[in-house]
Amino acid sequence: MLLRTPIVLLTLLVAAIALVAACGNSGGSVVAQPTALAPLGDITPITAEPGDSDGEPATQEPAPSGGVVVPAAFITTCGVCHTVADTGAGGQVGPELTHIGSIASTRTGLDAEAYIRESIEDPGAFVAPGFAPIMPGGLVGSLGGDFEAVVAYLVSLN
Ligand code: HEC
Repeated sequence: MLLRTPIVLLTLLVAAIALVAACGNSGGSVVAQPTALAPLGDITPITAEPGDSDGEPATQEPAPSGGVVVPAAFITTCGVCHTVADTGAGGQVGPELTHIGSIASTRTGLDAEAYIRESIEDPGAFVAPGFAPIMPGGLVGSLGGDFEAVVAYLVSLN
């Protein structure tokens, strides 16, 4: 008898709730319609698409000119603003760097490597014609141990 008491109370409670709901919704249906769930077979699993050229992986890629590989740090840190043809770097904010190894020595009195170093260490020292002086400072720190590899890579882009 004691064990049955909670069941009786529960039944009364459900009946009371149904009564209140029915009174508050004269004419309206108070029965919640269960939302149909898609059968498991209809759910398309998310899979990686190998060879998807839209998302360039931030890994080392062969340089267009051969030889030096593209440092991953260049793609992720610099590629948001700069383009190098045939790599994952496709930014449009700054000058294209596809031939910066040749162009660099024509910019100032510095040789190509010195100019490229200065461009990263002190972007405001010389502003490429036609561009706003918005290349951020502090990129040497962002590149960390990849700084020298990025300089060597850019020097190689003739
Ligand atoms: C927020 C965008 C932005 C990022 C990120 C950025 N740059 Fe730049 N960069 C620019 C702009 C804009 C210029 C042109 C103005 C100037 O010379 O300061 C420029 C100029 C340069 C130049 C000179 C190009 C020329 O034709 O003379 C070099 C070299 C360069 N950036 C290298 C880099 C490298 C390497 C990185 C990554 C470590 C980098 N930039 C990250 C925007 C960016």
